[in-house]
Amino acid sequence: MPSTAPRLTGDGRSHAKIILFGEHAVVYGAPAVALPMTRLAATVHVRPEASGIHIDSALYSGEAERAPDHLLPVVTAIRAAIRRIAPLTPGLWVRIGSSIPHERGLGSSAAVAGAIARAVASLANRDLDAQDCHRIIQEAERVAHGAPSGLDAYAVVADGPILFRQGQISTLTFAEPLTFVIADSGIPGSTSEAVGDVRRRRNAEPERIDGIMLDLAAGAERAVTAMQTGDARAVGSEMDRAHQGLVDLGVSTPGLNALVDAARAAGALGAKLTGGGLGGCVIALAESEPHAERLETALRHAGAPRTWTLTAGEA
Ligand code: PMV
Repeated sequence: MPSTAPRLTGDGRSHAKIILFGEHAVVYGAPAVALPMTRLAATVHVRPEASGIHIDSALYSGEAERAPDHLLPVVTAIRAAIRRIAPLTPGLWVRIGSSIPHERGLGSSAAVAGAIARAVASLANRDLDAQDCHRIIQEAERVAHGAPSGLDAYAVVADGPILFRQGQISTLTFAEPLTFVIADSGIPGSTSEAVGDVRRRRNAEPERIDGIMLDLAAGAERAVTAMQTGDARAVGSEMDRAHQGLVDLGVSTPGLNALVDAARAAGALGAKLTGGGLGGCVIALAESEPHAERLETALRHAGAPRTWTLTAGEA
């Protein structure tokens, strides 16, 4: 019989994500497509303590009770993981590491919460149910930015491209793999601020904003068909169109627009901002992996401090 006794320590890992289509519109019910970015990850190591929660991380080391406000999503994730997975845990020491840049629309906060959930489950020697994992990440995400759609909470633990529709996910199969370049603008963007700005604009101009949301939703649906039929050019033009929609929602910046322009000038099939915006990253679709290398060079020349290539949809 397999042992179910708690272990002496637990480890968890969760990765970054890219939103390919549907950011912001997803908050209002539109479909969205996200890709896991496994090379950037949050890792968590836990061990039981006699009492209390002790955090050890680059941002803060000390007792959870005295953690600064910006650590609140992390503290929430730890408490939610203990409550939902191992309620008899008297205390916990939690070491957090992450290679995911913060506030770049790459899902850093959700990934840390996912790694915490997995580490606590590993310590308790329990399989972590996907819905339990999702609920723990969502508790933390609500503290981080109000009313998250739930897209990030699925994407940071997904094994491949996902389609998110009405709160449910399904696996998205590409007819042909697609190679993307992600470029960091070097400027942080606050998701809660961006989501709040869009909400205020929608209250002030409901018809105009809802029109943009409908356009973003229809574009995401067309892009899904294009990915399923291997039409990379159509995926690229939907990315261009989605970027314009996000510009019209007011969540792009001159820096993001400059990177999008640089990617297009270097032959990208399409380019757009990714995630909440107001800073963060852009994503560009390359024609091939060698072309992705040239796009990375062009984006760095245009001022991106960091770039990554990501091939998605490989069998
Ligand atoms: O900026 P990120 O990576 O946290 O992405 C947020 C995505 C939004 O659609 C803007 C918000 C949400 O809850 O889905």
